[in-house]
Amino acid sequence: MPRVSAAFFAMGVVCVLIGMLYGMYMGASETFTLAAAHAHLNLVGWVTMALYGTFYALTRGTMSTRLAWTNFVVSALGVVVMIPALVLFLSSGNDPKFVPPMVAGEILTVLGMLVFGISVLRELVRARPAG
Ligand code: HEM
Repeated sequence: MPRVSAAFFAMGVVCVLIGMLYGMYMGASETFTLAAAHAHLNLVGWVTMALYGTFYALTRGTMSTRLAWTNFVVSALGVVVMIPALVLFLSSGNDPKFVPPMVAGEILTVLGMLVFGISVLRELVRARPAG
């Protein structure tokens, strides 16, 4: 597995461990205010990172390593900015001052997916033996 895939999985494991532990706390305390942050940490931080990591492992011979690392840095930053901002937004009763950092994280997350889209497109159109 290329290192960039391992980096995606490492990031994913950190996110899902925090997400699972917080989920256990939510269930035990019946406090669901941050349920959306739990869901996004798990889905953007774990599921999406794992899919990125899997794609680059499957395309290790043909991918652009530079594009893959750009995808990792932008997407990881997106999670690191977006989720804490979402936590602050939700726990403050939707204080609008937390919207700009949340949007910054969202934009990074979308940019990360766009970089991934370029990697996918490269793989789609690359020259290959018939079939
Ligand atoms: C130890 C593991 C986990 C525990 C204990 C846990 C616990 C919870 C709890 C207590 C809720 C709130 C349910 C409610 O609102 O009635 C919840 C919601 C949710 N969880 Fe988890 N969860 C875990 C793992 C995951 C994982 C791995 C994912 C996704 C990959 C996930 C995605 C979601 C989603 C999408 C929601 C709905 C959020 C919403 O309604 O806003 N959870 N979870």
